[in-house]
Amino acid sequence: MKLVHIYRGIGFLGIGAIWIATAQNQGGNIPPGTTRYKLVVPVGLPTPPIAGDNPLTVEGVALGQRLFFEKKLSGNNTQACSTCHRPNAAFSDVGNAVSTGITGAKGTRNAPALFNLAYQHAFFWDGRSPSLRAQALAPIQNPVEMNQTLTATVQKLSADSTYVSQFAKAFGSAGITPARIGLALEQFESTILAGSSKFDLFQQGKATLTAQEQRGLFLFRTPFNPRQNQFGADCARCHGGPLMSDFDFKNNGLDTQPKDLGLADFTNRPGDIGKFKTPSVRNLSASGPYMHDGRFQTLEQVVEHYSDGILPSPTLDPGLAREPGGVRLSPADQAALVAFLKTLVDPQFAPTVIRP
Ligand code: HEC
Ligand code: HEC
Repeated sequence: MKLVHIYRGIGFLGIGAIWIATAQNQGGNIPPGTTRYKLVVPVGLPTPPIAGDNPLTVEGVALGQRLFFEKKLSGNNTQACSTCHRPNAAFSDVGNAVSTGITGAKGTRNAPALFNLAYQHAFFWDGRSPSLRAQALAPIQNPVEMNQTLTATVQKLSADSTYVSQFAKAFGSAGITPARIGLALEQFESTILAGSSKFDLFQQGKATLTAQEQRGLFLFRTPFNPRQNQFGADCARCHGGPLMSDFDFKNNGLDTQPKDLGLADFTNRPGDIGKFKTPSVRNLSASGPYMHDGRFQTLEQVVEHYSDGILPSPTLDPGLAREPGGVRLSPADQAALVAFLKTLVDPQFAPTVIRP
């Protein structure tokens, strides 16, 4: 299959590794002349639901991938999606708390790592975008990001005959439109999956965790409820399940008066102030700094926050509000939790540095 060669060449999705299951649910009918893309699902993940009206095809995914690395999507041809979502860093803007757009202006939020997006239904830290296809058109037009109209984007791509034929092949008829740009990017982004971590293999009895990692796992999973004599770190309540997040919106105690209103920016409800989408805790080693504003440089700082740094506010998650300050972990337990988080990295994900 042609696309496999593209991936091998780029070498960041680790085709041929320990992925076992093949997805069954791959969407509806594919356009005439295209080939269905066989999504391989890493160990530990469920089969992702693929939208019936945008089934994955080899041609569509390849086009989406090309667009993801395409600097013509930006006003002065200097930025691609991959500028801020770097494939060798779990598609995050590693090292940058916030990202810098084409004019040199800085945004206000941390560029999230991109993986396991196909399972999600609300995008951005405040969940304001309901689909990947809708989300994809936002950064192109955002004045502090790629700063280009959709009309100009379509014009630039239409001037390149290879795009004209790639779009026609992927969608079964001629035409480059904003909607199709969104659909192609959605297809590509849906193939970015992270699983197959040491922890996933451990759960299948195929790997062992050290005593420290097991202690971390215990803390991660165990509730914190002193009245019932439970003194875990309670992480799995929000970061649980195979995706290591419920993707729900919560206030995890970062600020007493949040500068960024988070979910309330989108819903306008005071009860949503300071709530942000709960990110997955997979693949963290590559994607710092952490939180919506990139305030923590290290996982040690993140764990210290949950241990001793939880700040009160009206919308603070009630579970985190149980003990003023946090769940109070000893230094050894904090280290154990960090050690466990490091077992959640997909070793096949983004192993090489690529230059788009
Ligand atoms: C200038 C840097 C920059 C560029 C370029 C950029 N992004 Fe982003 N991206 C961000 C930031 C910052 C956020 C978070 C913004 C927010 O939550 O308000 C984000 C969020 C996202 C999300 C939501 C992830 C989630 O977990 O909710 C997706 C998906 C995404 N970007 C895809 C893309 C695609 C596709 C492109 C190219 C068309 C792109 N980005 C271009 C910085 C960038
Ligand atoms: C009440 C739900 C909740 C609980 C419990 C919780 N978290 Fe979180 N976590 C969140 C939310 C929400 C965010 C994003 C907050 C933000 O950026 O404003 C987050 C962010 C994170 C991040 C940053 C990820 C990134 O990509 O930036 C890490 C790491 C993390 N949590 C680890 C943990 C650990 C470890 C525990 C247990 C000690 C824990 N969380 C407990 C909801 C929770």
